[in-house]
Amino acid sequence: MIGDRPRSPDGLRADRALLEEIAAQMDEARFQSVGAPVNLDFDYRHLAPFLAVHANNAGSPCGTSEYRLHTKHFERAVVDFFAHLAKAPPDTTFGYVTNGGTDSNLFGVFVGRERHPDAVLYASEDVHYSVPKIARLLRMDFVPVATNQHGSMDPHALETVCRQKGGAAVVVVTVGSTGTGAIDDLPGIRRALASAGIARTHLHADAAFGGLLAALAPRPVPWAFADGVDSVAISGHKMIGSPIPCGIVLANSTHVEEIRVPGAAVGADDDTISGSRDALSPLLLWHELRRLGREGLTDRVHECLRVAEYAAQRLEACGRNPSHLAGTNTVLFDAPSEELCDRWHLFRQNKRAHMVTMPHVSEELIDRLCADLASETGQLP
Ligand SMILES: Cc1ncc(COP(=O)(O)O)c(C=O)c1O
Repeated sequence: MIGDRPRSPDGLRADRALLEEIAAQMDEARFQSVGAPVNLDFDYRHLAPFLAVHANNAGSPCGTSEYRLHTKHFERAVVDFFAHLAKAPPDTTFGYVTNGGTDSNLFGVFVGRERHPDAVLYASEDVHYSVPKIARLLRMDFVPVATNQHGSMDPHALETVCRQKGGAAVVVVTVGSTGTGAIDDLPGIRRALASAGIARTHLHADAAFGGLLAALAPRPVPWAFADGVDSVAISGHKMIGSPIPCGIVLANSTHVEEIRVPGAAVGADDDTISGSRDALSPLLLWHELRRLGREGLTDRVHECLRVAEYAAQRLEACGRNPSHLAGTNTVLFDAPSEELCDRWHLFRQNKRAHMVTMPHVSEELIDRLCADLASETGQLP
């Protein structure tokens, strides 16, 4: 409980000891956590001086601002990196660092809705839960579209519903579904819209989970601006890793003019969802991207995919019936007891458990998990 009076020196010492203990417990999680799509292997402690200063990237990341304490120059470098990754034209692309995937999706769909105020919002049945919520926030008609056996949107089903609805379409293209890592067929979606006669479109790629995989896997898939999307959401805390959730959103700068209010945010343009914005995440992302470079990130993605193959083989040997889409780092398998799911931070979907081989998930970690699974069933790993 937080009391009315300031804490005594002894009380403060006890609080610090408590916080250190909690931090140590959280740090231990990286050796026992295989279910969440977040990288736990990073260390930004040398950026600690930024915990003793204030900064706020209020308003637009571009142009001037009356607010002096910001990190927008770092933010723009991060945005440039992701714009290049998403094959966006450098001179006509706007982007900023957001609070995460939901925030990025909200921005992308908002821009689409402002371009086409009458648009229906389409997304696959397996879309992240943020998207139906965004439809409610923006008061858009939301139509979930059936998926195929791999969990990606069925373009024929999209064509059928678009023919029924007509008008304009904002389509969320999932690039790495939360459940299986499935990637929607972007060329198929574009063909479906054209065949249904929908001329006014905005395609938003929800690449929060799979953007880096789609871009850097040995066999890249169409997902980016050069492939026909108008806006992109990518997570910062998933494949890169960060103590604070964060994300990146990119969009065509001409389309962003639909939402921009010049000079409204302490002298900066108002063209972001939040007014005051996190100035620390851009520094963390900038630091990690500089450290790894595109090459280091590519190696990381390839290693995650290799470990996913390894996990599938080991789980097969354990009799856990794994399933795994090629080119993804998500492996589903027959769920163990609740106690084991808890211990290994595994999420359950019906009777299946959900593992994601993020950068901290090593072969050794998988071997330990398989030993636990085997001891539960008595089957040798
Ligand atoms: C595909 C996808 N989109 C959006 C999100 C939402 O991201 P956040 O939780 O950062 O808002 C997630 C998060 O798991 C995701 O997997």
